[in-house]
Amino acid sequence: MKYDFDKNISRENTNCVKYDIREEYFGNKEVMPMWVADMDFETPGFIRKAIIKRAKHPIYGYTIRGEGFYTSIINWMKKRHSWDVNKDWISFAPGIVPAINMAVLAFTKPGDKVIIQPPVYHPFFYAIKDHKREILENNLIHENGKYTIDYKDFEDKAKEASVFILCHPHNPVGRLWKRDELKQIIDICSKNNVLIFSDEIHSDLILVDRPHIPLLKLAEKHSNIISFYAPSKTFNLAGLSTSFLIIPDKKLKNIYESFMNSLHISMGNIFGLVALEAAYNDGEDWLARLLKYLNSNLDFLISFIKKNIPEIKVIKPEATYLVWLDFGQLKLKDKELRSFIIEEAGLGFNDGPGFGQSGSGFQRINIALPRKRLKKALKKLEAAIIKIR
Ligand SMILES: Cc1ncc(COP(=O)(O)O)c(C=O)c1O
Repeated sequence: MKYDFDKNISRENTNCVKYDIREEYFGNKEVMPMWVADMDFETPGFIRKAIIKRAKHPIYGYTIRGEGFYTSIINWMKKRHSWDVNKDWISFAPGIVPAINMAVLAFTKPGDKVIIQPPVYHPFFYAIKDHKREILENNLIHENGKYTIDYKDFEDKAKEASVFILCHPHNPVGRLWKRDELKQIIDICSKNNVLIFSDEIHSDLILVDRPHIPLLKLAEKHSNIISFYAPSKTFNLAGLSTSFLIIPDKKLKNIYESFMNSLHISMGNIFGLVALEAAYNDGEDWLARLLKYLNSNLDFLISFIKKNIPEIKVIKPEATYLVWLDFGQLKLKDKELRSFIIEEAGLGFNDGPGFGQSGSGFQRINIALPRKRLKKALKKLEAAIIKIR
């Protein structure tokens, strides 16, 4: 089957967040958007086919999760991560951000402290402070374009924390955490009775020749870990609000599910469930091609920037289709940098400080788009920078 990642598809006027709220978000509806983490590629044909097949049945009533939901997840975890998952570890969520918020509410109380590792995915901040919990920032260490964990600070903070939200792989810095890094985190959290929420939504999008290690697969004991997964990033299904949690510990699972059930949001939607099954049953070949395309986009980006805009430093991601760019050399204040990108370059990126103060001087871009458009965006960036050299 041919997969055409080069195909240009207009998403304008489809109620698409990335394109249709540009005016509201950037104050400019003309910017080329490279922000929200979904892809400008077609959702794979075998998934669309499965949805259309279900849509042809004329009744879209209340639905349950059939056996296929569980077996497709179990088989995927085995195929992709060589990991044996039991059916009764799997729970549903209508999105990972909603699930993290529910878990914060279910497992902590107001005033409790939650560790995150900025610069990090911005909704982690809101999931803590919107519910009157306290953020403990264990900032990543940035040295020579590489991000690592400050264990000493992590250990100090773990002494007072109830929960740690791990981003694995990490958005926006693109780290695919290694075995020894994960082990140290698990040890510190176990020693200090810290519950870990491991957000593994990007775990299928690995760009290096090293596997993703599910935290639960590595951990000897499961009583303090909840992991969050979804096919949405991998297969471009974010609008279907369908994800799942893996919680081997019965007590933790009951607490999470009781909370979700109390909100009456655990049913899910028919098309999301159909899409998840199709993705995990038939998605391997498509995913291999996607990763190849993303890697060649990344190579293109790196060599373009090195050759033409050396003022910008690329933090090379090991995973995800998001790239963290260091604009520090331009010596612009954050507000100036944001307006420079929007107004002078005509581009819509995610502003670094949105990921925490340590994101100052950075921008996050999304390279899941056809190569020609990526090239066009980079040329726009180059032209803007030439003017201020
Ligand atoms: C780390 C991380 N978690 C969660 C999400 C979003 O999850 P959902 O759309 O299922 O709420 C994203 C999207 O970019 C993400 O990067």
